[in-house]
Amino acid sequence: MANRRVALVGCGMVGMSYAYALLNSDLCNELILIDINEDKAKGEAMDLNHGLCFSSSHMKIRAGSFEDCAYADLVVITASAGSRKPGETRFDQLNKNVKIFKSFISKIVASGFNGIFLVASNPVDVMTRVTYELSGFPANRVIGSGTTLDTARLRYLIGDYFQADPHSVHGYVIGEHGDSEFVPFSQLNLSTKNVEEFFNDERFANDYKREDIEDIIEKVKNSGAEVIKLKGATYYGIGMSLVRITKAIFGDENSVITVSSRLNGEYGMRDVYLGLPAYVNRNGVRKILPLNLTEEEIEKLRNSYNILKESYDGINM
Ligand code: LAC
Repeated sequence: MANRRVALVGCGMVGMSYAYALLNSDLCNELILIDINEDKAKGEAMDLNHGLCFSSSHMKIRAGSFEDCAYADLVVITASAGSRKPGETRFDQLNKNVKIFKSFISKIVASGFNGIFLVASNPVDVMTRVTYELSGFPANRVIGSGTTLDTARLRYLIGDYFQADPHSVHGYVIGEHGDSEFVPFSQLNLSTKNVEEFFNDERFANDYKREDIEDIIEKVKNSGAEVIKLKGATYYGIGMSLVRITKAIFGDENSVITVSSRLNGEYGMRDVYLGLPAYVNRNGVRKILPLNLTEEEIEKLRNSYNILKESYDGINM
């Protein structure tokens, strides 16, 4: 089986939720933990290794340094200047995180790393573009978690509403991983039935209403802030989202996931990274899946695009 070695940069709650989920998924055969606090990385490696015999995984886990990225197939970046505080936006983290990225992306590239970057640090769409620009890697091998978690939140809440398994909900949150994200109703289905068909179907005796779905979409958008308000940070959902993307890469799946990928003329937009359904495989993003968006939906996507473009243009790279 092809090598499946991961180097994780950032051993905070997001990074370690990813690592713990990875240990219990048997997806990779080596995990290297890198953190500015070397003792933290060592301690986390020890703690995970102590649970290894309970896992079906045989992955080798150790603390390491940026030089170790030379042997990695995937570098996952969760390093951040500290999780958002209640009331802080993801963009408040931006300039602090750009500084951090400038301190280590070049070290990863200098190690001879030639795999795929997977970025989760917020604001993730801009930080993924920062990684692309700093690394000089081809765009397909620089991916962000994008709206993968938002789409999972949508599927959970829509499944709950229709009392259906979230796996039977097919739809996407697209655009910025943030306030301008949106759900194209035209692409939101339960099984093969578009949600619009439920609203006017007397067989459902008006059980379902458009405004309920709109409320759910609002809830999805605010989920991150809501969890932060309640428990101080989010990490399990994003950690598992990163494992899902890792699985698509290592399994060469060509699964369609709303990762943050670089636009290359889709919908008349380019250069900006944002969340759209894309095929993910061993080489990273194969291509973005074109959606038949309505004019209104394209305008919403353009709004996200403009916000992310302005944000990136405002960085002193
Ligand atoms: C959230 C973080 C990952 O949405 O931005 O929970």
